Amino acid sequence: MIPYQIIEKKSLGLTLSESEIRTFIMGYSSGTIPDYQMSALLMAIFINGMTVEETLDLTRVMLESGNRMDFSAAPGFVADKHSTGGVGDKVSILLAPILAVLGIHVPMISGRGLGHSGGTLDKLESIPGFNVNLELKEWEDLVVHEGLGLIGQTGTICPADKKIYALRDVTATVRSIPLISASIMSKKIAEGIRGLVLDVKTGNGAFMQTLADSRKLANSLVSIGKGYGIRTTALITDMSQPLGFAIGNWFEMEESVKGLQGQGPEDLMAVTYALGAEILKMAHPELSQEGAVAMQKKTVADGSAFEKLKRITELQGGDSRVLDDLDKYSKAKFQKTIKSSKSGYLAGIDTMALGFAGIQLGAGRKMISDKIDFSSGIYMHCKLGDKIEIADDLLTLYCEDETKLSAVADQISAGFSFTETTPELPPLIVERIV
Ligand code: URA
Repeated sequence: MIPYQIIEKKSLGLTLSESEIRTFIMGYSSGTIPDYQMSALLMAIFINGMTVEETLDLTRVMLESGNRMDFSAAPGFVADKHSTGGVGDKVSILLAPILAVLGIHVPMISGRGLGHSGGTLDKLESIPGFNVNLELKEWEDLVVHEGLGLIGQTGTICPADKKIYALRDVTATVRSIPLISASIMSKKIAEGIRGLVLDVKTGNGAFMQTLADSRKLANSLVSIGKGYGIRTTALITDMSQPLGFAIGNWFEMEESVKGLQGQGPEDLMAVTYALGAEILKMAHPELSQEGAVAMQKKTVADGSAFEKLKRITELQGGDSRVLDDLDKYSKAKFQKTIKSSKSGYLAGIDTMALGFAGIQLGAGRKMISDKIDFSSGIYMHCKLGDKIEIADDLLTLYCEDETKLSAVADQISAGFSFTETTPELPPLIVERIV
């Protein structure tokens, strides 16, 4: 079959064979199939879905587009954490060094911004000089000797996901269980890990907005992981408001640093510790939940997790001085604070709109070739359930281009809703899927 026929088959809702998926993905990865045909196939998958078998085939082919690491020589448990994506989700930046300090080896392959959601690689690159494109050997050495290396997909590890991911980011083909499953799991299996915890976000800032869809995604991810012999658990966690207060690359780095210095927002730290506990209990089956959380808190209290983040930053070419002195970082030129025109208890936030607002301000890409403005973003002044008075600050927008501020402000102001009595809030950790 030629690419046209494969696209047409999926657009008609039919099931693709392994060899059709392989022909297409390998062709795209090697450059013989162009972006416009891949985009068409992605949209056909997005609309018509894939069977479990097709999803497994897609994952395997994307994995086999590159190498699979072997960390069996690492002197400890090799494991990772990955999120399905949300707004203000900077957990990886906190959790990776915490786990490394606690003897876990974390070969973390992350992604860039995707749709409305931010990406760990973009956040790390907001640190001047930070190199997420290490040579494989350099990364391997960091993981074995330092317990942590932070990279993106490369030309040799998940090259298919590297290209497809960038395309999905700008073609509205993200919210698809098979595409998310294959994207995440091809990367995680390629890492050569033995344990994995997945943070499956649910709510209006997540790709899966209902609990039923989030469960489906969690089950898909967990069953693929287990099929490859990886101990995999998923926590479904709340994304009906941004995690923490900061949205945007440097803002999120800053909040992560504060978190590792013991001044992190409550929700961010709770999700971080809950995910970390899953990995620590895999590595040490005798550990209790409380024990696993206490170990992590200690790495924050004694400064060792922050020191690890700084050391990895330096080893990956980054200037760790900005982490020590956050005020040194150059700020966005313009800012605008949105004030409340209503009073009451904050009962709803249009979280996805905030993610897209961040992109409009320069914190994400509208086209593959766009350059990110690391200092733009949004700082929230409120959380769901807060008592708000008229004229209270809701959030501040930061941007290098003053003309964007008013348009963005108009778009997101309507996304706040209020009640007269305290609203019922969703739990932060909604469910555990094993
Ligand atoms: N993270 C990924 O790596 N891929 C997705 O599709 C979504 C989140």
